[in-house]
Amino acid sequence: MSRIAYVNGRYLPHASAAVGIEDRGFQFADGVYEVCEVRRGQLVDERRHMARLARSLRELKIAAPMPPSALSVVMHETVRRNRIRDGIVYLQVTRGEARRDFPFPAAGTRPSVIVTARSSDLEKLEKVATDGIPVVTVPDIRWQRVDIKSVALLPNVLAKQAARDKGGKEAWLVDAQGRVTEGASSNAWIVTRDGKLITRPLGNDILPGITRSVVIEVSKAQGLAFEERAFTVDEAYEAREAFVTSASQIVMPVISIDGRPVGNGGPGLVSSALRREYHRHAEFS
Ligand code: PDD
Repeated sequence: MSRIAYVNGRYLPHASAAVGIEDRGFQFADGVYEVCEVRRGQLVDERRHMARLARSLRELKIAAPMPPSALSVVMHETVRRNRIRDGIVYLQVTRGEARRDFPFPAAGTRPSVIVTARSSDLEKLEKVATDGIPVVTVPDIRWQRVDIKSVALLPNVLAKQAARDKGGKEAWLVDAQGRVTEGASSNAWIVTRDGKLITRPLGNDILPGITRSVVIEVSKAQGLAFEERAFTVDEAYEAREAFVTSASQIVMPVISIDGRPVGNGGPGLVSSALRREYHRHAEFS
């Protein structure tokens, strides 16, 4: 079965789905995106993802392409047409297609909307989570508004590849003060030796992860000690546990950082419990 994409009003097989070559997403990375998990055919935390999308669009002064209710129908329909039970749905909105020129195009230029969906192998994902993943630290060379979920991901691409070249599955980005900002496509967390859960506070220097916000709720429900503060790479080396959060990985235990085992070198109890409990706190639609 060929995969179906929604592009500007039409559902098309990937092979014939396209945006114009002067689309500003392609020319300038002038667009935003969202990635939502799909479980049993339902979207996970759609409301929160849509709220973040609205904020990203507002911050970049890109017009909302359609009302949220219509966007919701398109996402569900894309999931349905691709017969996704478990997987992800990807939504991209760009400032649209116009003659290449840096300033915004004429008012009334229609934003482009692309929605795709793909299945994931849950069993395989669970196996990865049972093993945990190695991460590698890389300097954070991104721009100063990474709180906006923009499609301009070149530094993330380079960081992820640099990590991969050293045997890592995720890159942890490090600021000029030696503190971890976040992962190349995830938020970063540690559990200290005295059992405190730590993650960096929201600001312009990290993406306000939806999974991050739900995990904070889960940790509160479990009565875990939690502190929002930046942590250094050295603290992470000494941590009892580490993990990353994202819509596609939920809570993924980190078993080594730059080749140094974290804790006992296996997934930690706190990370595993947060992963297990996650979907009890998430919203399904
Ligand atoms: N990435 N930080 C960055 C830089 C991200 O790209 C992501 C998500 C997150 C986690 O956000 P959330 O919990 O809302 O997924 C944090 C998505 C999954 C991606 O680019 O594929």
